[in-house]
Amino acid sequence: MPTLDEALAEIHDEMADHIDRGRVADYIPQLGKVDPARFGIAVVTNDNGVFTIGDADETFSIQSISKVFTLTLALGEVGDSLWKRVGREPSGNAFNSIVQLEQEGGIPRNPFINAGAIVVSDILLAGHEPRETIGEILRFLRFLTEDDTIAIDEAVAASERATGFRNFALANYMKSFGNLRHPPEMALGVYFHHCAIAMSCRQLALAGRFLAHDGINPATGHSVIARQKARRINALMLTCGHYDGSGEFAFQVGIPGKSGVGGGILGIVPGQATLAVWSPGLNENGNSKLGTLALGKLAKMMNWSIF
Ligand code: DON
Repeated sequence: MPTLDEALAEIHDEMADHIDRGRVADYIPQLGKVDPARFGIAVVTNDNGVFTIGDADETFSIQSISKVFTLTLALGEVGDSLWKRVGREPSGNAFNSIVQLEQEGGIPRNPFINAGAIVVSDILLAGHEPRETIGEILRFLRFLTEDDTIAIDEAVAASERATGFRNFALANYMKSFGNLRHPPEMALGVYFHHCAIAMSCRQLALAGRFLAHDGINPATGHSVIARQKARRINALMLTCGHYDGSGEFAFQVGIPGKSGVGGGILGIVPGQATLAVWSPGLNENGNSKLGTLALGKLAKMMNWSIF
């Protein structure tokens, strides 16, 4: 078996030769400005080794990867009552689809599609102002990474709000079913800002450590969430973390993962390591094209799989 450094170097070289790197998301105009040639990977092992290659320290918009961390916070705050308002089945639809909401009484299929994450934002508001909840999410990520530089890209947040008509529709629709407790614009204020958090591959891999280690941060020994909840978050990442591409990701990569339209993916190898990759070009399901290929190759080279 190669060392991690050897595996990362080989994957980096192979990905550099790819001509078709997928399509950078431009439905949020600010995201469309990112250079498709960027590529980075970070791996953090449970014995606190950190391995990086390429643009692993460059920050990018984490987008839907943030939904893993808002779900963790919400489960910590309200526990299993969360599941009365959000399901836990793959949707088989695009991340911003509205059709199932009508058929299923305003209860989103899972916490990783946009509608589900907007409900999670509403839960985290709990009577607070959006800026307080956004502050709580940022503090959580800074605590997980021990890195106080993590911040929101305000230009991305503004770009999301200005063009987020579909998300406004989802939130208003759920409000009409009584599945939002706060005004839709407040839940969306939290949602747009947590999607606009900027992080590097290194920071993401560090933030995810508790998911590879039974809910405990292996570096500090801090319990982040109960073991059973960490397992369930991993189960949801496996089944729903790549939307309509979740089956393919499980097939090709074989570990829980969460993608974002900024081109990042966070992968969890329970008991062993966390992986983060960034390549801005997306495939037809809105998941990083080379990022998926790279994680598949890395998992194979290192013999990492949950199966
Ligand atoms: O709401 C949106 O469309 C974005 N803020 C997040 C979407 C996203 O990352 C979907 N992931 N692939």
